[in-house]
Amino acid sequence: MTFVDGAVTVRVPASSANLGPGFDALGLALSLHDTITAEVIDSGLEIHVTGEGQDGVPLDETHLVVEAMHAAFDLLGGRPSGLRLTCDNRVPHGRGLGSSAAAIVGGIVLARALVDGGDDLLDDAAAYQLSVDLEGHPDNVAAAFFGGLTIAWIDGAAAEVERLATDVEVTVFVPPAAVSTKKARGLLPETVPHADAARNAGRAALLVAALTGAPHRLISATEDWIHQGYRSEAMPDSYKLLRQLRVDGVPTIISGAGPTVLAFARGVADRAPSGWAAHELTVDQTGAEVVRDTV
Ligand code: HSE
Repeated sequence: MTFVDGAVTVRVPASSANLGPGFDALGLALSLHDTITAEVIDSGLEIHVTGEGQDGVPLDETHLVVEAMHAAFDLLGGRPSGLRLTCDNRVPHGRGLGSSAAAIVGGIVLARALVDGGDDLLDDAAAYQLSVDLEGHPDNVAAAFFGGLTIAWIDGAAAEVERLATDVEVTVFVPPAAVSTKKARGLLPETVPHADAARNAGRAALLVAALTGAPHRLISATEDWIHQGYRSEAMPDSYKLLRQLRVDGVPTIISGAGPTVLAFARGVADRAPSGWAAHELTVDQTGAEVVRDTV
């Protein structure tokens, strides 16, 4: 196994999981990206981070991108003698916009691109499987990896995905404070009423139709009964904004485990509470991609 000369850059999108009723299954890749560049060097590990997380992420082997790269190198045939990594982060951390999935998918695609013939040694199915194994949940990973609208599930141990095209436009409202996915998952009950599960399943099916050709159904299609309400105590301001926008007829959901709020609409950015950031975004149709090879 040999490594390519020079630096390789990968661009990987933010993603929104759940999308309301599609808990742990649906994902949407968004036009907000982390850009990661790496190069094999003689020895050592050099990590430079700008943007989101620049003052918080570890600059050693526990950096999430490095962990993912090492896992991929191990499957590809071996780790390099040294690595220089530069991360330009735009995906907010701890906000339900798939920053961990972006780091893991970005790291794996980057490691593969640093190896001669890497695409053959670790094809997309194997790279996606590794990404899901490292992340734990497939929903953000699927969107970050493949772009577009994704339906992800685990069959036995196998990570599966079906990708669909959508050109929906969204506004995301990002609050100033993070909520960890672990905390948000801890608020979920062991069981939900059968009636809630049944109507959620119906709305999740409707949501796929709404996002792929029936946008007038979005307000009904984004209703959820099995996770958003249970988590509202951890993100009361997000839940309040969600209810206000929905009352006004704007299809709105909590993005992933929160606390970001996502509206399937444009022209509503002025509804952001004080101190929040609002971004008008489109769907990333590509997923993680190598944007510059061996400069
Ligand atoms: N679907 C997950 C959750 C988050 O809502 O807990 C992303 O994997």
